Amino acid sequence: MAKSKTQFVCQNCGTVHNRWAGKCDGCGEWNTIIEDDQMGGIGSGPGKVPKKGRAVALTTLSGETEEAPRIFTGISELDRATGGGFVRGSAVLVGGDPGIGKSTLLMQAAAALSRRGHRIIYVSGEEAVAQVRLRAQRLDAADTEVLLAAETNVEDILATIGEGKRPDLVIIDSIQTLWSDTADSAPGTVTQVRTGVQAMIRFAKQTGAAMVLVGHVTKEGQIAGPRVVEHMVDAVLYFEGDRGHHYRILRTVKNRFGPTDEIGVFEMSDKGLREVTNPSELFLGERNSKSPGAAVFAGMEGTRPVLVEVQALVAPTSLGTPRRAVVGWDSSRLSMILAVLEAHCGVKLGQHDVYLNVAGGYRITEPAADLAVASALVSSLAGLALPADCVYFGEISLSGAVRPVSQTAQRLKEAEKLGFPGAMLPATSAEVPKGANGRWVTIEDLPDLVSRIAGSAAKLRQTPEDD
Ligand code: TYD
Ligand code: MG
Repeated sequence: MAKSKTQFVCQNCGTVHNRWAGKCDGCGEWNTIIEDDQMGGIGSGPGKVPKKGRAVALTTLSGETEEAPRIFTGISELDRATGGGFVRGSAVLVGGDPGIGKSTLLMQAAAALSRRGHRIIYVSGEEAVAQVRLRAQRLDAADTEVLLAAETNVEDILATIGEGKRPDLVIIDSIQTLWSDTADSAPGTVTQVRTGVQAMIRFAKQTGAAMVLVGHVTKEGQIAGPRVVEHMVDAVLYFEGDRGHHYRILRTVKNRFGPTDEIGVFEMSDKGLREVTNPSELFLGERNSKSPGAAVFAGMEGTRPVLVEVQALVAPTSLGTPRRAVVGWDSSRLSMILAVLEAHCGVKLGQHDVYLNVAGGYRITEPAADLAVASALVSSLAGLALPADCVYFGEISLSGAVRPVSQTAQRLKEAEKLGFPGAMLPATSAEVPKGANGRWVTIEDLPDLVSRIAGSAAKLRQTPEDD
């Protein structure tokens, strides 16, 4: 009965193959498939002998429920991203590129929790105790009672954190360094990472400690990425940012205990991460409103409005195939908007290179940014600067119609607060507040937008600009 146990597992996405191949069918990555002896040990699933099942009592959907018990860090941007603090007995994955600041963030969280009287254990598998201490000193966390261990073996870690009083929170930095005696494959492979993570999750569930697992995101697939454990944990947070910029965004992509569209914004300083409570001011900081091709988008991140500048550069191409380059937005969405501009507005961009950039290294995920992108493109192509005090939002459909988006009132309110009384928004927005003093222009469709941009620029040229 027992089959050969050799499998071939993609180190990027975890897809199991029966034979080796150069390219993974699951994720399309090359050279990520390696031979993996299955499986055994912690987390390997049920044993070989099928046991007779035990009937559990069925219940109903109504009944007593308890609010998940949480521990707050007091770092409000972090608490916001976790949906109100770490939940006891749950496992959170914090993923991100190497060097982005995951260890820094978690050391600050550990220190903050420890100051609030919680028992925190920080297990570092990547850095030696001395290195972690150095960072703690830099973060003014050295005086706290955070307990530290430098260990990578799963069994040893479990024995360590299981000893003595139950910890309130355990940080494992990182899951890629975990290895267990019970899994045969090499450290850093999918099997090892899964085995280790499963053991940690089980510890959290059994003891009620909150478990924070750090995972590096890798493009090369040399070590198993956090994607293979995303489905096992209760919440997934990604720490993003651009190395060239100081600020970092903690984005919730999965949360069994809270909303998933929240972000926390931080700024990396020489003394660790600082909270940014008003991100719009940061993203609009270096704005030069006089140049063509810049439009301010009034976006939403979860419950929070964020104003950010979209910059476009449209220039005649010298190549056979014009270039399309996008930073901070979806490139297929840009192609769509270019196509709609060509088809419905007669704006010809086939002989132009198009570059699109979201200021400050920020990444927009909302389709509501369509209108801002289209405005920036038209403005750059025409060489006409948009009005400096106007924001843009609205989704564009293939027919060229501008469709309403959610949370219109919050977007307008934030824009007014930050000195943007003007707005161009979808015509059918139901929730536009009445009687406010904003100059709001509703846009039916894309041709309407194009003519308004041309018109307002013409008006600007007639009246001499004042500084
Ligand atoms: P780190 O937390 O080690 O990243 P990760 O754990 O995600 O790999 O952060 C590394 C970077 O952060 C490093 O380039 C130095 C920088 N940094 C600061 O700028 N200020 C600080 O106070 C600290 C601790 C780190
Ligand atoms: Mg680290």
